Amino acid sequence: MSKVLTVKDVTKHFGGIAALNECSLFFERGHVTGIIGPNGAGKTTLLNAMTGLVKPDAGSIEFDGQDITGLPMHRIAAQGLVRTFQIVRELRGLTVLESLLLCPPHQIGEKVGGALFARSLVNRQDTANATKARKILERLGLWRVADQSAAALSGGQKKLLELARVLLLDPKFILLDEPAAGVSPPLLKDIIRIVKELNGEGISFGIVEHDMHLINEVCDDVHVLAEGTALVSGSFSDVTADQRVIDAYLGMAI
Ligand SMILES: Nc1ncnc2c1ncn2[C@@H]1O[C@H](COP(=O)(O)OP(=O)(O)O)[C@@H](O)[C@H]1O
Ligand SMILES: [Mg+2]
Repeated sequence: MSKVLTVKDVTKHFGGIAALNECSLFFERGHVTGIIGPNGAGKTTLLNAMTGLVKPDAGSIEFDGQDITGLPMHRIAAQGLVRTFQIVRELRGLTVLESLLLCPPHQIGEKVGGALFARSLVNRQDTANATKARKILERLGLWRVADQSAAALSGGQKKLLELARVLLLDPKFILLDEPAAGVSPPLLKDIIRIVKELNGEGISFGIVEHDMHLINEVCDDVHVLAEGTALVSGSFSDVTADQRVIDAYLGMAI
């Protein structure tokens, strides 16, 4: 096994708060790695720092042998490291297919223009991209809703659309921020199956999630974050039995 993504002593302050505090951890190539921890532990900030949405104040991040510290999101995405969002972006006015085609690789991290431009932009997409989008939507079970309003999708379908968006970038590593939140049980099963399938095809995953069933079901290993730093790492059963982890979650259901 080899490390594909390494975070070393990363610190990120917001005002007086250290969202990340000399955080160090790594992800194995080919693994699905869980990132758990109480609210406010710094999980989302870690994802943001690794994918270029926030710049670390200190420390370094290496992906696939390259130093990516402080690079903008689209550069990091171009190297194969992508993420989905905890709160799915506003999709009003776009169909499922349009919302997908409006985020080609070079636009990742940039604001999408008004929905007015959607159709003409989609019309200008090259066929290769449109065919690829169709294949991905078919795979994720979204092709039958391709012409429906993206905003009308269920919570779980929106998560799948987020996944579709990043799959268009041919990623090597996908970070998912709370993929189970607001997702119905049948769609959650689909998401779990798809993550396993994609992982079987060689894509590594990092998953921030509160749903311990999902973490236990799909993760090879788990990092526990608390107060901006990696507290414990190991198998799901090891970390959940660790007294430091139990203390960090004190008063919360794990
Ligand atoms: N953009 C921001 N501005 C100010 N404070 C932030 C910002 N992002 C995160 N924080 C703070 O940093 C800490 C970690 O937040 P976050 O990374 O969202 O934690 P988690 O995802 O584990 O719940 C929290 O105290 C949060 O309020
Ligand atoms: Mg979060």
